[in-house]
Formats: sequence, C-alpha cells, structure tokens
Amino acid sequence: MKGIVFTEFLGFVAQRYGEDTVDDIIDASALPGGGAYTSVGTYDHGELVALCNALAQQTGQAIPTLVQAFGVYLSGSFAKGYPAFFARCGHFFDFLESIEEHIHKEVKKLYPDAELPSFTACERTPSRLVLDYRSPRQMGDLALGLIQGSAQHFGVQVRVQQQLRDSANGPVVRFVIDLTGDAPAHV
Ligand code: HEM
Repeated sequence: MKGIVFTEFLGFVAQRYGEDTVDDIIDASALPGGGAYTSVGTYDHGELVALCNALAQQTGQAIPTLVQAFGVYLSGSFAKGYPAFFARCGHFFDFLESIEEHIHKEVKKLYPDAELPSFTACERTPSRLVLDYRSPRQMGDLALGLIQGSAQHFGVQVRVQQQLRDSANGPVVRFVIDLTGDAPAHV
C-alpha cells in the first residue's frame, strides 16, 4: 500500500485525536519502520490494519466507523491534491464512474506498484448509481467514506446503502447510491 495512504491516515489521527494519539498508536503497533512513511514508499497493508486496531483500542470507537471517517478525510486530501480529477466531471456519478476508467489508471501511471481496487457501475438512473467494489484488501468502509466525502465536494446529498455479496472472484461490496434533496436533474 502506498505511503500516501499512511501519511494521510496519521494526519487524520493527528487532526481528530491529537499528536499524542499518533505517537501512542505507532508505539502500540510495533511497526517495522517505527511509523516513518514517505508518500512514494510502499508498505505492507497489514501495517494500516495494525494502526486502525490500535486507534480503535485507544478511542473505544469501532474500526468500521474510524475507517469510514478516514475515507471522508482522505476525499478532502484528494480534492486538494488532485483537483483536476474532480473538475473534469460535471456530475457526481460521472466522477464515481471515472474512478475505474480514469482516476486509478492515472494513479497507476504515477505509482506503478499501487494496489488498486476495482469498481463496476452496474446500474445508473438520474438519481441512482449502483457501484460494485472488489479488492483483496477489502476496504469497503474506506470506499464508503470516500464516496460520502466526494459527494460533499460535489455539493450533493446522498444516501449510500452497502450490501455484501459473494461472487466467483471473492466478496463484493455493492454500493447503492441515491441522490436525495436538490440533485441536478441532468445525467
Ligand atoms: C482524486 C481522487 C483519487 C485519487 C487520487 C486516488 C488515489 C488512490 C491511491 C494512491 C490509492 C492507494 C493505492 C495503494 O495503496 O497501493 C487508492 C486506493 C483506494 N482508492 Fe482511490 N483515489 C481517488 C478517488 C477514490 C474514490 C472517490 C474512491 C471511492 C470509492 C476510491 C477508492 C479507493 C479505495 C477503496 C482504495 C484502497 C485500496 C483498495 O481498496 O484495495 N478512490 N486510491
């Protein structure tokens, strides 16, 4: 997993819980590099899992809740760091459909060793997008937070339902994303 995810995660923890908590969870996780990450480096995904477990222990909050909140935070970092990915899409659903076909393809060019999930759009109406998420790392809660955070960036209100399904290629998280409130009428 790319270091940018780790540096952003520690930034999220510092902002929400303070620098002391960052130090505490690094100490508790017995990490090979002592918690030093560079954004272009590549690290074991298990280190992120260990840090999330330690944060859950430290804060008493459930891991899915923490990972989802991190996803919302990360969407803000992406919007600042990669504004062009957001600006090229007029509609929130176009943006979500572009993760697979455009955004993560560009990420892969930038970081050839990035391990990215796959997203398949299964259904689209003016007010609903059904998106299937697959990844050996099973970070569906991160995806949920990223979807919710990006919706804020597009100024739309959404209701997101998550359904866990099985497929021949392993587990799939199906996101049913409904625009609620004053959504743009065009698609
Ligand atoms: C501007 C937008 C985005 C950028 C620059 C970006 C970039 C990245 C990068 C660098 C990684 C780490 C890959 C690795 O560690 O090897 C990643 C992973 C991931 N991205 Fe994106 N991403 C963007 C938008 C999104 C959005 C909107 C979603 C929403 C569903 C998403 C879902 C994920 C997930 C769930 C992962 C974790 C890896 C996994 O599930 O296997 N990304 N992305």
